[in-house]
Order: sequence, then structure tokens, then C-alpha cells
Amino acid sequence: MTALAPERAAEKATGTLIEVRDLEVHYALHGTFRSRLTGHGGGAVKAVDGVSFELREGEVLGLVGESGSGKTTLGRALLGLVRPTGGSVKLRGRELAGLPESQLRPLRRHLQMVFQDPHASLNPAMTLETALAHPLQIHGLTKSAAETRAKVLETLELVGLAPAEDFAARYPADLSGGQKQRAAIARAIILGPELLVADEPVSMLDMSVRAKILELMLELRKRLGLTYVYVTHDLASAKFFCDRVAIMYLGRIVEIGPVEAIFADPKHPYTQALIKAIPEPDPDKALPRDLPRGEIPDAARPPLGCSFHPRCPVAFESCGWESRDLRTLLEERWIAGGEESYAAERPLVGNLDALDEGDGDAAVVPAGAGKDPGELLALLERIRAEQPDEPLWRGVRDMRAETHGVRVTFAPGTDPPLYDAADSRAACLLYRPRQ
Ligand SMILES: Nc1ncnc2c1ncn2[C@@H]1O[C@H](COP(=O)(O)OP(=O)(O)OP(=O)(O)O)[C@@H](O)[C@H]1O
Ligand code: SF4
Ligand SMILES: [Mg+2]
Repeated sequence: MTALAPERAAEKATGTLIEVRDLEVHYALHGTFRSRLTGHGGGAVKAVDGVSFELREGEVLGLVGESGSGKTTLGRALLGLVRPTGGSVKLRGRELAGLPESQLRPLRRHLQMVFQDPHASLNPAMTLETALAHPLQIHGLTKSAAETRAKVLETLELVGLAPAEDFAARYPADLSGGQKQRAAIARAIILGPELLVADEPVSMLDMSVRAKILELMLELRKRLGLTYVYVTHDLASAKFFCDRVAIMYLGRIVEIGPVEAIFADPKHPYTQALIKAIPEPDPDKALPRDLPRGEIPDAARPPLGCSFHPRCPVAFESCGWESRDLRTLLEERWIAGGEESYAAERPLVGNLDALDEGDGDAAVVPAGAGKDPGELLALLERIRAEQPDEPLWRGVRDMRAETHGVRVTFAPGTDPPLYDAADSRAACLLYRPRQ
């Protein structure tokens, strides 16, 4: 253990390693055919959209969320691998966002990444010895070939690839999936990093080796004083592996807190739904899967107000209702009601695309060709009476017939920041302090 970083017991560490403030990574969209048609060209995918948190030395923070929620982008931004379009990332007080590549490069040895696919992250033409020696040589961390070799062997041993001499001579093709991931971890730790971002490090491995790799990582954290960001869509593994968890949705953190608090008493309705959806290992006890209804919205046009509102079972008046939600309600009703309801109701409504263009608080639902707006109003009132529990109606303030359709006025929406909610922080208006 001599040549590696001195042991920095995780328990002793309390300082802040990374501080993230209002971080944004927006990817510009260059006018697609659809965007030109809908007039929404020139927008941006808000992959990370105003994220703030601190990473304490020695902790394991999980970034958890469905596909596309921005986990990988956030993890890469912490390492300076993607350029933020706004906000700040500080490593021990030193700003990384906006640093030129020449100044980032020497810092990279402190910030390493382990990828999902160990096969793709190892060069098939290199023995493990060459692959592991390479970063040491680039950063000039060893003074002789003998020292480099000793360090490589020591690191292989540390990740459980023993006898190290034997593994040093092997190529990636000679390794099992679990052994490849051990080799990728060896390459990540050989420079003595402080932070390791592990992006779904076990999701491509056999079930039988997943726990072993996570256990190895916990062991390494203790011995080397590492800090981890663990990116996953698998809440069950986060429960086992993490100290704290940040739940991400559409580029935002919607809840963050100690892992025990998040599992024992999740506060955000999205976290509650994700936890309910964890498959029960005992099939006799298996509950129906209960993922939030609907699909994840387009990150280029996130919903108004709270971006979870279209899927939230307890959404209320000020959660951000808008005309797009009315379109979804009509379409879902016609799909559920079948041919008959579609044939009776669809002709009363004009072009539904108009509902995608609403300006937020109000929208005009166009009447169908030659149809009386009064009839359309009667239809909308009937739907409201038949489906009174649809959360959308809580946000509808007024509906009245006009010359060409029905004007629907929505309650103004509020975009919730993270509020204190018992032991965690949750971005939900239910936890807004009373004024
Ligand atoms: N280079 C890029 N250019 C444009 N959009 C991107 C780029 N990288 C990611 N995105 C978009 O940013 C959003 C977040 O992507 P990201 O890969 O960070 O999500 P994720 O949570 O890691 O998803 P997954 O679980 O599928 O890996 C997505 O909408 C994605 O399509
Ligand atoms: S603010 Fe809370 S209640 Fe409202 S939609 Fe968002 S998560 Fe649901
Ligand atoms: Mg990802």
C-alpha cells in the first residue's frame, strides 16, 4: 500500500470536495424539420437545468432517475468532460467551469470515471500492463519502468486481479465481464484520484458479480479515501451502495437526502412512485408495478411549472397546468373510450396542434369545422363532470365559448425549488413553507 495515496478513512472526512451551484448543460438544437414546422426551432435540450449540491469528502452520492434525466451529463460535467453552459463547479473551492483544457488536464488525475461498458472502455490491443502504465506515464507519476510496473501490479492486486503478474500480461478478451470492470476500475484509481464518477458500473454485468464489484468499490473507498458519484437507474442498488441519493427528473434534482430518509420516507411524489416500482424479489409478495403514468416529456420543451405535473397523481392548482395537458387528456380519453367516443367527440374539436402553442395561462381550443363553440364547451364540461379526479381540472380556472372555440384559462404555475422536507429536500410545492 506504500505507493498509493495514503489511507484517508472515509469516516474522518467531513470537508466539501465538490460544490455545484446552478449548473446548466444545455445542448443547442439546430432546427430540425419538426422544429421548423412547429416553430420551436433554435431551442435547447436542457440536459442539466439548474442543479446545486455539495459532495462531501468520502461520501457516496447516488444520481438516480429514468433514462434521459441528465445523470450522465451531470456526472461528466463534474469531471470537466462536458462544458457547462451556466453555473459553477468547484473542486475544493477552485472553479472548474470555464477552465481552459490546458488547466483542466492536470486536474483530471484527481477526477476519474468508470463507464457502464467495461469492454468498450478497454483497448483490445493492449495488455492490462500497457493500459494501466499509460496514464502513469502521461502524468509523469513514476520515475522508472520498474516503478511503473510495481505500481501496476500493486493496483491489479488491489482490485482483486491476482496473481497480478498473470493478469498484467492478459488482454481484455482474456477476461470475464467482472474482471474487465475490475481492470477499468484499476485504471481509474491508479492515478490516486479523489473523485470517481461511476456511470452504471454494474448494469451490464451478470447479476452474480454485480454485488462483488460494488463491494470492491466500497472497500477501495475505505482504503484510498475515495469519494463516489454513483449514476444509476436502479434504486435498489443505490440503497445498498450510497450514503446520500439525489433523484433526478428532466435535468433537475427533485429530491436529495440521506439514503435511509429517502427510502423510509420519500417526500417527492416522483420518488414515492420510483420506490413503489422497485420489483419485489419474492414473487409471492410482488405488487403491481406502479411507475408514474405517461412518458417522460421532451427535455427540449419541459412542462410549465413543476415539470413532473403531467405525471403527478397529487398535482394541484398551481403545479403548472397548460394547454398541452388538455390535449393529452383528450387523446387519452379517446384511446380509452375507443371508436365510439372518438367518432362522437373528435369532430367537435378542431386542430389539436393549436393546443401545443398555448401561451401558458390561457389557450383557445378550436372548434371543429362548422361546429358551434357552445357544443365544444358542453363537451369539455361533460368530460370534467365524468372525470372530476383528473388533476388537470384543479388547474382550470375558467372555460368560455368564443367565436372560434373555447377559451380555457389556467391557474398560474410555480416552478418549485428544493424545499426542506423533514430529513431530505424536495422540489415540490407541497413542501413550500407557509407565508
Ligand atoms: N451530446 C448531446 N447532444 C444533444 N443532446 C444530448 C447530448 N447528450 C445528452 N443529450 C440529451 O440530454 C438529456 C440527458 O441525457 P443523459 O445521457 O445525461 O441522461 P441519462 O439520465 O444519463 O440517461 P440514461 O439513463 O439513458 O443513460 C437527454 O434528453 C439526451 O437526449
Ligand atoms: S409540485 Fe409537487 S404536487 Fe405539484 S406536480 Fe410537482 S410534484 Fe406534484
Ligand atoms: Mg446515462
